[in-house]
Amino acid sequence: MVRLMILMLLGAVIMTMVPLGVGIRDDQTREAVAKWFEKVGNEKPKLSRLHFYLQFNFTGNNASVVLVAQPNITSPTGFGEVYVFDGLLTKKPEVNSKAVGRAQGIFAYTSREENAFTEVANYVFTRGEYKGSTLQLIGYGTSEEQILEFSVVGGTGALRLARGTAFLGTLFIDADRETIEVDIFFFQY
Ligand SMILES: *[C@@H]1O[C@H](CO)[C@@H](O)[C@H](O)[C@H]1NC(C)=O
Ligand SMILES: *[C@@H]1O[C@H](CO)[C@@H](O)[C@H](O)[C@H]1NC(C)=O
Ligand SMILES: *[C@@H]1O[C@H](CO)[C@@H](O)[C@H](O)[C@H]1NC(C)=O
Repeated sequence: MVRLMILMLLGAVIMTMVPLGVGIRDDQTREAVAKWFEKVGNEKPKLSRLHFYLQFNFTGNNASVVLVAQPNITSPTGFGEVYVFDGLLTKKPEVNSKAVGRAQGIFAYTSREENAFTEVANYVFTRGEYKGSTLQLIGYGTSEEQILEFSVVGGTGALRLARGTAFLGTLFIDADRETIEVDIFFFQY
């Protein structure tokens, strides 16, 4: 325990001494961000739309959805199971079409009565006008629903303060993989 504390103290000292290099950018300083908020406070947000596809692998070492925890009870609704995912966002429905980003998040079966889950996700864009920006989604879904409706609760970078609604519908699914169509309507500044 003592050794651990010494290590942690040492870590803290090293952390404060080692220059980290980059720091925050000019457009992320308190002044710049305050100015940005002031500006958008007087602006009407504009409606935008993003449309792409989300690809998941279920099997092998390239699985992009994994079960990370489950309870020690047997539940017909999967209650208590927790999954982590890192899916590829593509421009077209084909798995090998151009990648525009990744959808990374967690979902868990959160109902004891039905096959329902709660999901939180970051959509991280790696190409195009939103490269380097993210959207944050929160949603509730059941296995009964054909189209899921999630909330876009925020964004970062060029998508800062984004707010909207995302629709997700499965285009293809088998034991190995799934392709989901994603259509997002959102307000942005
Ligand atoms: C996983 O995917 C990567 C690239 O997408 C590929 O190079 C690798 O061979 C794949 N591994 C398996 C086990 O399929
Ligand atoms: C699950 O684990 C808890 C805590 O260890 C224990 O009290 C409970 O009896 C277990 N339930 C079952 C169904 O094994
Ligand atoms: C799924 O697996 C294939 C083949 O292993 C790989 O090329 C592809 O990149 C994987 N897709 C995702 C979304 O991880």
